[in-house]
Amino acid sequence: MKITVIGSGYVGLVTAACFADLGNQVLCAKKTSKNLDKLNQGISHIYEPGLDEILNRCLDKGTIEFTNDIKRAIDFSDLIFICVGTPQSETGKADLSQVEDVARQIAENMTDYKLIVEKSTVPVNTHQWVKKTVQRYSNGNIQFDVASNPEFLREGTGVYDFNNPDRIVVGVESENAHKIFQELYRPFTEKGDVLLITTPAAAELIKHASNSFLAMKISYINMVAELCEKVGIDVNMIADGIGYDQRIGRSFLNAGIGYGGSCFPKDVRAFIKIAEDHGLDFGLLRETEKINSQMRERFLEKVENVLWINKDKNITIWGLAFKPDTDDIREAPSIDIVRKLYETDANLRLYDPQAGENFQNLFPENENIRYCSDKYEALKDSDALLLITEWDEFKNADLNKVKNLMRLPIIIDGRNMFESEIMEGFEYYSVGRENTNQSEKP
Ligand SMILES: NC(=O)c1ccc[n+]([C@@H]2O[C@H](COP(=O)([O-])OP(=O)(O)OC[C@H]3O[C@@H](n4cnc5c(N)ncnc54)[C@H](O)[C@@H]3O)[C@@H](O)[C@H]2O)c1
Repeated sequence: MKITVIGSGYVGLVTAACFADLGNQVLCAKKTSKNLDKLNQGISHIYEPGLDEILNRCLDKGTIEFTNDIKRAIDFSDLIFICVGTPQSETGKADLSQVEDVARQIAENMTDYKLIVEKSTVPVNTHQWVKKTVQRYSNGNIQFDVASNPEFLREGTGVYDFNNPDRIVVGVESENAHKIFQELYRPFTEKGDVLLITTPAAAELIKHASNSFLAMKISYINMVAELCEKVGIDVNMIADGIGYDQRIGRSFLNAGIGYGGSCFPKDVRAFIKIAEDHGLDFGLLRETEKINSQMRERFLEKVENVLWINKDKNITIWGLAFKPDTDDIREAPSIDIVRKLYETDANLRLYDPQAGENFQNLFPENENIRYCSDKYEALKDSDALLLITEWDEFKNADLNKVKNLMRLPIIIDGRNMFESEIMEGFEYYSVGRENTNQSEKP
């Protein structure tokens, strides 16, 4: 099939590349010419494992192309995926201006039937606004459908998730749109994947309800972790104990410093606002947010309780990305943590396998903030190592080397990356577990 994808961020790029890899002919539209040449040479501007290989394969086969000519992109196919950003606005609601802008451009440029698909995460009933916008700005005689096909991929495993979805949700209003999606997703349904066909409004709501539920699960276990720390029980034991229950499940029950990223924080906030707009108080989600921000504060309290005074201490931070296997730092816990520590005049040495460059745009290097190109280099004469993102590279670190490089063998682990038993010789603090080998507070 011929497919147009508008937006080439984490979702647009993965969607375009993976559809092309399935043998479709894809044209992906960017807003500007920035990185256009690179993309057309198979070099993506974001870090997503496996993506560059697919891009190169599809470019070789001629199944994908990138353009900043929006008219050409709209002419190219009848099936248009909107994959632009829907960030949080000042009020907490989703800012839909990028979606509206694309809807108008489609309206002004379309000359024949289009199936316009919202892949971006949008509040329930946004499809009605998209429909109205296209009607208003087009010449009124051209047929079109608007559908919702929310994306559930996770950054870091986006390519795998696209190809192995737990379910594909599609909200349609016409028989024609229904048929197009059945054909598009046939390679998935043939291998047994679930294609859930519903209304556009229900599909939109499924996405917000889904992300909010996952965020709630994280905050739930983090609150349980707080209790575990008080009563001296390992939260992992509790997570296993409840996670084996198939009605609950073990995933998203890893205690830590809470969620961040470009989706959960803004989607939870937007869902609270959607409920508010309908006269409902989604207190459960307000509490989810509150617990999440408390986790960052608790982590900083832990640092202070361990180090007493941060000023002039060398503090190493491993992990800046909001999660492993991505370079994305949007709403990452590391941002609050680095900002607060910086205010205490600590000397910060930062290292992340992929996200350092993005982080430098927020926190440029200066005499108190140094970026290191190697995790061990960041440890030299360090008074404490803070673990913020659970990259495998950190889990597999040589702990003897770590100990020998540091001035003091203190690790404060925000992601429970290590088992306490192997931390012999360290003062090791983690989340929701009895802290081992720790010095007595004076
Ligand atoms: N990132 C994720 O893990 C993820 C997962 C599922 C759903 N989503 C949702 O998907 C949407 C996109 O997320 P993202 O992370 O890819 O965002 P992103 O910020 O990485 O990418 C959005 C892209 O859209 C481009 N854009 C904006 N207006 C445009 C226009 N008129 N023409 C062409 N391009 C335009 C921007 O330049 C940007 O590159 C959001 O609604 C998000 O909530 C994201």
